[in-house]
Amino acid sequence: MAPAPSPLAFIPFVSVENMMRLVHHFGIETMLRELTDAIEADYLRWHLFEKTPRLASHSKEGVIELMPTSDGEAFAFKYVNGHPSNIAKGLQTVAAFGLLARVDTGYPLLLAEMTLLTALRTAATSAMVARRLAPAGSRVMAMIGNGAQAEFQAIAMKAIVGIEEVRLFDIDQAATQKVARNLAGSGLRVVPCDTSEDAIEGAHIVTTCTADKVYATILSDNMVGAGIHINAIGGDCPGKTELHKDILGRAATFVEFEPQTRIEGEIQQMDDSYPVTEFWKVLSGEAQGRTDARQITLFDSVGFAVEDFSALRYVLGKLEGTEYFQQLDMVADPDDPRDLFGMLQRAAA
Ligand SMILES: NC(=O)c1ccc[n+]([C@@H]2O[C@H](COP(=O)([O-])OP(=O)(O)OC[C@H]3O[C@@H](n4cnc5c(N)ncnc54)[C@H](O)[C@@H]3O)[C@@H](O)[C@H]2O)c1
Repeated sequence: MAPAPSPLAFIPFVSVENMMRLVHHFGIETMLRELTDAIEADYLRWHLFEKTPRLASHSKEGVIELMPTSDGEAFAFKYVNGHPSNIAKGLQTVAAFGLLARVDTGYPLLLAEMTLLTALRTAATSAMVARRLAPAGSRVMAMIGNGAQAEFQAIAMKAIVGIEEVRLFDIDQAATQKVARNLAGSGLRVVPCDTSEDAIEGAHIVTTCTADKVYATILSDNMVGAGIHINAIGGDCPGKTELHKDILGRAATFVEFEPQTRIEGEIQQMDDSYPVTEFWKVLSGEAQGRTDARQITLFDSVGFAVEDFSALRYVLGKLEGTEYFQQLDMVADPDDPRDLFGMLQRAAA
């Protein structure tokens, strides 16, 4: 009989099923709060991270991206796609998985589904930024684009920023009805709207979270009044934006990692002299956040590798003492490290 793998061969794997059990076990609001704090703690260690714009492979239907980063002790990468045309085929727009590894040996520490985890970390990141930049006393948010990310965004804004009312708009009414159904009982007042103008009426925070691989105008300049915070999630790829550029001309714009956002964010519409502030500087006190009540603040979110790193490390920590993972025989670990071939031969026995 072939020898059994050594303990070193096994890596915890969090499947979609186990990720869902983990979220239900701890509660989604608790997880979003803790994840927000975990991402914020890593943003405060910004200088330690190896940072690079993500590696993107574009096609006419969408994009497949690899997002690596390391803090010198752990290394993480996420595989993620963005295919707006998938919905029409009955498939998700975004699907992802990720891996965390030790830097000192290169051995993996965790493999996890990241489709759900991306929705959680994107919502946590939006809330982390909004709690610093949104106008004081923000209670109403508009959610334009009611797809896969929408409920996560709304619940994070409730749990972390104190949002009480969410106003929904999507070009597809079925999507709005889905969100309204899913958020019933969440504690949020849910208001489905017939137009995006209606949705942003009275909103302190406007989240745009649509998917189309075009320069779209989800918000035009005349729709945006003074004093709001815009959380722009959906423009995250070259040739894919959501805001009219005149809004950028009026807003104070905050980004994750400037070199990546210049390629992928709303600011791809502006020239390189357009001023932006990397958000970690607001947290560290090196830059100002919102400076007055009438200012329009814009978080030009594209999603950055450090957020996925934080999410994977957070999940690894939460696994302790639970059964919400499987052990995957993932690393070949021969008794004699040089005898890889011998290990293969013995397996035939
Ligand atoms: N910034 C980030 O970190 C981050 C993370 C995850 C996803 N995203 C992006 O967020 C977007 C949304 O992701 P998703 O998974 O919810 O996608 P999804 O396809 O599930 O939902 C998108 C929704 O937008 C609606 N929509 C399209 N055009 C619209 C318009 N003009 N007005 C109103 N609604 C419109 C669609 O009907 C759909 O319901 C995608 O573009 C995705 O790439 C960004």
